[in-house]
Amino acid sequence: MDKKIKKPIIEVRDLVAKYGERTILDGVSVDIYPEEVTVILGGSGCGKTTLLKNILRLHEPFSGSVKMFGQELVGLEEEKFDKLLQNVGMLFQNGALLNSISVYDNVSVPLEQHTNLPYEIIDKIIKVKLDLVNLSHAVYLAPSELSGGMKKRAALARAIALDPKILFCDEPSAGLDPLTSEDLDALLLKLKNQLKMSIVIVTHELASIHRIADKIIFLDEGKMLFNGTLEEAKNSGIKEIEDFFEAGKFS
Ligand SMILES: Nc1ncnc2c1ncn2[C@@H]1O[C@H](COP(=O)(O)OP(=O)(O)O)[C@@H](O)[C@H]1O
Ligand SMILES: [Mg+2]
Repeated sequence: MDKKIKKPIIEVRDLVAKYGERTILDGVSVDIYPEEVTVILGGSGCGKTTLLKNILRLHEPFSGSVKMFGQELVGLEEEKFDKLLQNVGMLFQNGALLNSISVYDNVSVPLEQHTNLPYEIIDKIIKVKLDLVNLSHAVYLAPSELSGGMKKRAALARAIALDPKILFCDEPSAGLDPLTSEDLDALLLKLKNQLKMSIVIVTHELASIHRIADKIIFLDEGKMLFNGTLEEAKNSGIKEIEDFFEAGKFS
């Protein structure tokens, strides 16, 4: 399909996000396209997590518009919103696994909550998802028995249990060593291709960005500085962005 005629799967317009009186996002507009990896970049505390939370209404936007699959989310009734959310997977920093139950049971939670599928089918789906994230050998282990990378993969299996069209990841490589982080990137790309998923990811690791990014959203001081391809970002002539790609970190 010609990329030019692809429609955004998420359209954010003039989004203002506040905590109390404090404005964090001050009129942000971005587009997220299907079957692409969009990386959200920006210095610590600039509002990356806040952007994800406002898109998902984990924090209510102060003003502006957020459309997902063409449907306005701001002000949408709870029931319709919940239905839409079933197309969304989340791998959040603190989205830890439930420690008292096995990996298998963790992945079963969304399936039992949101579907009426018979046990045999749920069992098959759980095993397929755990196989996709290379955890077939760890199905019945407890989260405490997993390494850091395995925990991330188990959380990922849970996040994709319902075959979401979009997966949101907030710094998934935080706390992982470079090799494990590289494996996780490879896994995300595999899922993107096999499940035709769109991925929106917050990360500031340069190596990771080069491995996975199709598009970049660059936030700075409450504003969107750039939204486009990785190549365009590097040649954007925008000082903050060039500095980041040169130094590999935010100044
Ligand atoms: N629940 C909250 N209440 C008040 N302030 C918050 C809350 N969450 C985040 N903030 C503040 O909002 C700013 C943006 O936070 P965040 O979106 O988490 O930044 P990032 O993910 O880019 O590091 C930070 O200054 C942070 O301290
Ligand atoms: Mg954050």
